[in-house]
Amino acid sequence: MITNNFSDCLMDNRKPAIFLDRDAIMDMEESFSGKDPVRLDADTIASLEILSRHYDLFGLVHESGIPDDRSPSRHIGGVNLSADNPLRTKSIQIKTGFVCSHRDKKSCDCLSPNSIFLREAASRYDIDLSQSFMIGNHPDTVRCGESLGVFGLYLLSGEGARHLTNLPSDRLVFHSLSDAAHWIGKHPKPALQLEDSVRRAAAVVKKGGLVAFPTETVYGLGADTFNTKAIAKIFESKGRPLYNPLIVHIADIEQLASLAADIPDAAWPLINRFWPGPLTLIFNKKHTVPDIVTAGLSTVAVRMPANPLAAGLIRLSETPIAAPSANLFGRTSATSAAHVMTQLQNLCDAVIDGGACRIGLESTVLSLTDDIPRLLRPGAVSPSDIKRLAGPIAISSALNDQEKPRESPGMLSSHYATKTPLYLVDRFDGFSNRPDIGALLFSPAKQALKGPVEILSLSGDLNEAAANLYAAMRRLDAIGLAAIIAIPPEESGIGIAINDRLRKAACKGGFQSTNSANSSAGRRFS
Ligand code: TXA
Ligand code: MG
Repeated sequence: MITNNFSDCLMDNRKPAIFLDRDAIMDMEESFSGKDPVRLDADTIASLEILSRHYDLFGLVHESGIPDDRSPSRHIGGVNLSADNPLRTKSIQIKTGFVCSHRDKKSCDCLSPNSIFLREAASRYDIDLSQSFMIGNHPDTVRCGESLGVFGLYLLSGEGARHLTNLPSDRLVFHSLSDAAHWIGKHPKPALQLEDSVRRAAAVVKKGGLVAFPTETVYGLGADTFNTKAIAKIFESKGRPLYNPLIVHIADIEQLASLAADIPDAAWPLINRFWPGPLTLIFNKKHTVPDIVTAGLSTVAVRMPANPLAAGLIRLSETPIAAPSANLFGRTSATSAAHVMTQLQNLCDAVIDGGACRIGLESTVLSLTDDIPRLLRPGAVSPSDIKRLAGPIAISSALNDQEKPRESPGMLSSHYATKTPLYLVDRFDGFSNRPDIGALLFSPAKQALKGPVEILSLSGDLNEAAANLYAAMRRLDAIGLAAIIAIPPEESGIGIAINDRLRKAACKGGFQSTNSANSSAGRRFS
């Protein structure tokens, strides 16, 4: 449930508002198809219902995107989110839907990021823009709100993932409107509350406590690298074996000097290009780095996260923060604060809720302790990205479950697992009539499936799919299915990292294996 400590934020008689970018909450293709002018799923309607209790709601169309031939007048009601739609039956009132069909595109006043609609809403309805939120899936929409002091929340749904590269790294992103609505319920004064939660978390780190915090890859469960008691608590909380070393997170390059005994020349082009970002580098360690952090290895893994909340936490804690992913050992990583809470609720002393993780898969891990860099875990920084700067690299393959880890304990072949058995398949034939089997789809399915499906990207974009993968795995895992199936995507770019996680999460044994390139570790359901 959304909490509602709203009363103290009503500084005067003006009311706060939520401005909803139409494209972010509606399936535009569906609505243009003429079948149904307003397609809002149950989650969206429930979110709007809750938000409408505390905020005036406005619908916005902020870009030239309604060609005359595709927007007959009967669709305008849907586009406005104001008429003829299921919201009415729930008593959800959209005050006004601001829309323009951009007949004269060049000089049209409403073209983004013009904030004319917001100004109009503020003066017509007495809205306090400084307490209001803009929810959209285009960077211009967020920017447009911010130009008037409206706090922007970015949805990864629809086109959101595709435009993400143009969104500044300190803007919060969410998987769905429902996630954004919950966040708003807990953060009616967002800027102040975020700052406060980072400050409090840093105080917890300084006192030797555990903090869950967002990064651009997955949430981490962190503690002061040099406080061995605190680090021991991380292993205990996660049920993580002591042989599996942690990544140390830094906020600036000076902190690297306190961890690495030497920084090979080959590291610099990679550091300059990919830090801060989703690349972990392994160096020979300084003796001052506690053995418990590195599981007794003579090397240390270091990463500089790009997420500004993570960077702020490390800076205010005044120490590098050692952190594994914030999930129980071997299980699906967390890409939102809510995911962290389902597994580690009573085990961390503070949680910074920074929305969803933009990338959604753990960092690339690259060892620099031999002559040739060795890739230990694929991630968003792909092998070809690395080769371009570092020349040839070696690639380590996953270990068997029983094998004693040598190079990187996290290379265990079984990891990231759902409780429901996950199987990798070549095709969905044979499963289409099974309501008890759920499917992870990397693009919309060509055939109808009776069981629940999670479409990770409507356009087949693998970066979008990666950001949604763990949340979708968790949702399917929560509904008591007999199995989850997935056809692995193409093995290139971030597809390499997605397939690595799928193979490790997939069940081994029990089903006939195929000789496909995608089945090197996970057996196939056939
Ligand atoms: O994106 C990420 O890397 C996330 C966020 C929180 O930063 N962290 C993460 O941590 O995925 P964890 O603990 O789940 O995975 C760390 C991986 C493991 O595979 C571990 O074995 C490997 O890094 N690792 C850590 N130190 C190492 C070392 N000295 N040598 C080889 N592998 C190491
Ligand atoms: Mg992990």
